Amino acid sequence: MHDQKKLWNKAHEQESIHHYSTQPTSFFEEVNKIIPPASRILELGCGVGNDSIGFAEAQHTLIATDLSEVAINKNKERFKNIPNLNFETLDMSEPLRFHDNEFDAIYARLSLHYFTNEVTRKIFSEIHRVLKPNGYLCFICKSTNDPLYGKGTEIEKDMFEHNGHIRHFFSEEYAKSLLENKFKIEKIESGDEKFYGNNSAFVKSISRAIK
Ligand SMILES: C[S@@+](CC[C@H](N)C(=O)[O-])C[C@H]1O[C@@H](n2cnc3c(N)ncnc32)[C@H](O)[C@@H]1O
Repeated sequence: MHDQKKLWNKAHEQESIHHYSTQPTSFFEEVNKIIPPASRILELGCGVGNDSIGFAEAQHTLIATDLSEVAINKNKERFKNIPNLNFETLDMSEPLRFHDNEFDAIYARLSLHYFTNEVTRKIFSEIHRVLKPNGYLCFICKSTNDPLYGKGTEIEKDMFEHNGHIRHFFSEEYAKSLLENKFKIEKIESGDEKFYGNNSAFVKSISRAIK
């Protein structure tokens, strides 16, 4: 397996995903409408921070995290002196370094689909732990209808390594199985959208922590 941290650092050095990420996304707009004012938010896999700055400008307090220190260092420079926006390096496949019940919302756009089933389930447990009761989990992952599905070497069910990139494609059923007993699902839907200029298919979910 290719080293995913190296791969993402390279992508962020080359700015290959920056070109498409200058504005807050439609998912940000959707989430920003429903979360309470002045929420404390943890963002997982923030990339270039285009949604992070959207949340900060909407007066939420954000810890925006990413595996890539290249991305985090660039974001710190680009968005410096914004008191309610903090960028931190974090590998979400490790236990989260935050307290129980710390966040009003967790936001993860295109970042929860890189892990084996076992690791994904641990990440969802950790997300549940650090969310306040009724806290929001909002995520989009690539779906099993994505054009890249099935390309490359199969690692496990619905998970493939293609040109060095590992992706675990979600179905709605799989997303529901990750959420069941821990979250009340408010929305779960599938669709098509262009991500970074490429035709893609997604599963999107908004749910709330049951505690
Ligand atoms: C496709 S980009 C999405 C970036 C941003 N959320 C967006 O919607 O444009 C995926 C991001 O997840 C990050 N990532 C990959 N593995 C990660 C991990 N184990 N922990 C935290 N972030 C990770 C990558 O560095 C990359 O910035």
